[in-house]
Amino acid sequence: MYYPDNLVEEVRARNDIVDVISSYVRLQKKGSNYFGLCPFHNEKSASFSVNQPKQMYHCFGCNKSGNVITFIMEYENYTFMEALQLLADRAGVTLPKIEYSKEAKERDNLKARILEAYKEAGKYYYYQLRSEAGQKAYEYFKDRGLSDETMNKFGLGFAVTGRNLMYRYLKSKGYDDNVLKEMHIFYVNEREGMTDMFWNRAIFPIMDVNHRIIGFGGRVMGKGEPKYLNSPETMVFDKGRNLYGLNIARTARKNNIIVCEGYMDVIALHQAGFNQAVGALGTALTSGHVNLLKRYTENVLLCYDNDEAGTKANLRAIPLLRGAGLSAKVIDMSPYKDPDEFIKNLGADEFENRIRNAENSFYYEVRMLEKEHDIKDPEGRTRFSNDVAMKLLRFEDSIERDNYLEAICARYHINTDSMNKLLGRLAAKGEGIPEYERPKSGMYSKNREPDEGRKKTQKLLLTWLSDEPAIYQLLRKYLSPDDFTEELYRKAAELLFDQIEQDDVNPARIISCFTNEEEQSEAGTLFNTELPKFNTKQEREKALKDILIKVKTYSFDKKRENSDPTDINMLNSVIENKKMLEELRNLKIELSE
Ligand code: CTP
Ligand code: MN
Repeated sequence: MYYPDNLVEEVRARNDIVDVISSYVRLQKKGSNYFGLCPFHNEKSASFSVNQPKQMYHCFGCNKSGNVITFIMEYENYTFMEALQLLADRAGVTLPKIEYSKEAKERDNLKARILEAYKEAGKYYYYQLRSEAGQKAYEYFKDRGLSDETMNKFGLGFAVTGRNLMYRYLKSKGYDDNVLKEMHIFYVNEREGMTDMFWNRAIFPIMDVNHRIIGFGGRVMGKGEPKYLNSPETMVFDKGRNLYGLNIARTARKNNIIVCEGYMDVIALHQAGFNQAVGALGTALTSGHVNLLKRYTENVLLCYDNDEAGTKANLRAIPLLRGAGLSAKVIDMSPYKDPDEFIKNLGADEFENRIRNAENSFYYEVRMLEKEHDIKDPEGRTRFSNDVAMKLLRFEDSIERDNYLEAICARYHINTDSMNKLLGRLAAKGEGIPEYERPKSGMYSKNREPDEGRKKTQKLLLTWLSDEPAIYQLLRKYLSPDDFTEELYRKAAELLFDQIEQDDVNPARIISCFTNEEEQSEAGTLFNTELPKFNTKQEREKALKDILIKVKTYSFDKKRENSDPTDINMLNSVIENKKMLEELRNLKIELSE
């Protein structure tokens, strides 16, 4: 952060959140909170709440939350610095001139130069496509059914055959080799110097959500290998956090986003009116993609190719999406392979039908399971029921689970009572860890997917402690910030515990301690999870104890995972941890009424 913490805090504290948000959203007081229609998603009934004592907002519909600074960032689409400036002006605080470090300045400059150079390169390809030299590529796009308008919208281009035409062009525009190297669209060769990566290919510029070019894909026209050549990740291009076409799709104002595989799929869908389509460009959907999608929609329609790879991609994406609280459905494109072919053959109206009939992701998963078993055979049928039960156990919400249980049992003629009993037996055995939490190898393998269940429990505890700091006194003996398995949670816990010790609880201040937007937004959710409703004091006490035990268990598991198995101290600490968990199980937590 460029400004000292206390200055940021002063700006934040001098802008009351209810005052500020009231000038954007009509708020009504209900109980101790203010409510209004959420400005971050479409809704008819007010689920956006502003909590004055905490100086935070939270939407129970789209789960966005934060403090007054993040509100301005989200609402105005401002950077942290811009939001801070606006609020400082509003409160009459003068911000000092920023002193960037030399490295920060250089890095920023380099990034800016790279982006400019991409823009220039994009213009060059764009121009070539529309020149005589690009006639062949233009015909290629036309043959694939693209209109001039579509070509322009996606900035399509053409790379002429030539050893280093682009290189020389950008040099003539004044870009230095160090900038051009960082673009990674040139091969660096000792003898020949820098040569162009794209020769005689149809060019698809890849843009970020702000319409800035950050890479290119080039397709051979006709036969040849590789079919697509893509520029790699760079300082400005993170493939796991970028989706092709999202720059347009984000403003499509449909209530869903369609995720498909390829460049041409996205383009064909947009041309047919489905401008909410984005492409993962042949890579598996990552949690970065999911977070990105979550900013713009609650409903994701999967439209991967209709083949084995596409099915795999669907089955991987579904738990990720569900884990992030998004609704996922799968579009059936049979008998065609991909949306591009589908639209060409059956047209937009039929695709609209397929959207309407998109399959609930749970049904899809079960249908794929069904293919693995012979459900006519009693033995196969039993195994199938077991697999279905395991899937059902992953729903954390019991109402949702019951609904699916009934629907699935009816569909496959399974007795609901038996299924319910099976669930009980499996749960008693400790089965039913959400699949995004399930270890690939060991609980904390390196490439594990984000583990929403574990995170949720830790969030519950943080929210609870920020709501009722007095409880901390009961837990402090057992709990430390190190027990939180995510770095961001650990830091937030440390700050929160400090505040509690000093009797100055202020979650909004904790959010400003994080500098980037994603972190702030995530930190905001830590103090705004929805606590379950309890009827009795005993229920509350039991829930608190369960949460504490869970958090400690995750913490121990993580420590064990990270320790050296040959270390003799490890066995000791495993025993210690076991003892502690035992102690916690017998702990009597006494809450006041
Ligand atoms: N892809 C890639 N490199 C390849 C093949 C595919 O990067 N050699 C990526 C591209 O982003 C491509 C996507 O994976 O758009 C889907 O691949 P595929 O289904 O083979 O291509 P299509 O999109 O159907 O391409 P086209 O219609 O142009 O044949
Ligand atoms: Mn295709």
